[in-house]
Amino acid sequence: MNASVNAYVNADANGAAAGTPLLSMQNVQVSYPTRGFRSSPVTVLDGVSLDIAEHETVGLVGESGSGKTTMGRALLGLAPVTGGRIMFQGRDISTLSRSERRRSAKDLQVVFQDPYSSLNPAMTIEDILMEPLEAGGDKGGRDVVRRLLDQVHLPQDAGRRLAREFSGGQRQRIAIARALALDPKLVVCDEPTSALDMSTQARVLGLFKEIQETTGVAYLFITHDLAVVRAISHRIAVLLHGKVVELGTAAQVTGDPQHAYTQRLLMAAPIADPVAQRTRRLERRALLERQGEVVDAVS
Ligand SMILES: Nc1ncnc2c1ncn2[C@@H]1O[C@H](COP(=O)(O)OP(=O)(O)O)[C@@H](O)[C@H]1O
Ligand SMILES: [Mg+2]
Repeated sequence: MNASVNAYVNADANGAAAGTPLLSMQNVQVSYPTRGFRSSPVTVLDGVSLDIAEHETVGLVGESGSGKTTMGRALLGLAPVTGGRIMFQGRDISTLSRSERRRSAKDLQVVFQDPYSSLNPAMTIEDILMEPLEAGGDKGGRDVVRRLLDQVHLPQDAGRRLAREFSGGQRQRIAIARALALDPKLVVCDEPTSALDMSTQARVLGLFKEIQETTGVAYLFITHDLAVVRAISHRIAVLLHGKVVELGTAAQVTGDPQHAYTQRLLMAAPIADPVAQRTRRLERRALLERQGEVVDAVS
């Protein structure tokens, strides 16, 4: 049993660890003003509550536009929190000023979906990794760069090469190394494997797990892909129209989903075996009929 599993020995019915969580979103609302005369603001997150423990991976699933990225951005101080609060290590970070936030910023990092736009192609890997270290006032930068390259299984000579020389999977390793540079407590991973092919995806997911085992970092792992979220998460939260409609252990949410939307999401996830796929299609039709939805043609 590894450390990340040990943390769940004292878990409650939803699989949440006992004690003060690392991060606690409490009834968080994010609204954006809309343009135009007398138009009312649009609410993107509508009373979201979610805790993340140290060493924990919470997967966040939901269709496009459900508010997943906004939730990550709210944690990072990049989306306007118009209601509720976000506690990090027992302190409300949703009301901090920009300069106050900068101090807690090192503990909260992010890996984005697109490793092409998130890394400057004309910078060397060493410079990319030195940036956060220098901003954090770290003097032993070059040694840390060596350790970071090691941690993401890139060769030491990668440091002198330019970001544009690397493939998508390698760039994502560099983005992960950059996120780890300041030893964060929590990394928001926003669809970090969605742009990668299947085999690269599996290796990068393995890397995320390995890093968690060695560093104890927690993840909010955002994805629209249930197979990915099942493979990496301790718990899973399902977001629908800006609300968490289901929250539980990965086994419970994927094996015995309670909410109709989660059931549909699971049924819609592709499976490799064609026989199982056909059975699934029939089950899906039956489910949609029970839920009173319009049934697509079953081929
Ligand atoms: N800065 C913004 N201003 C106005 N609306 C926004 C802004 N950012 C996101 N939204 C809206 O919030 C909704 C959720 O977006 P997002 O969080 O990106 O969803 P997801 O990541 O689940 O696809 C979308 O309808 C989007 O148009
Ligand atoms: Mg998104």
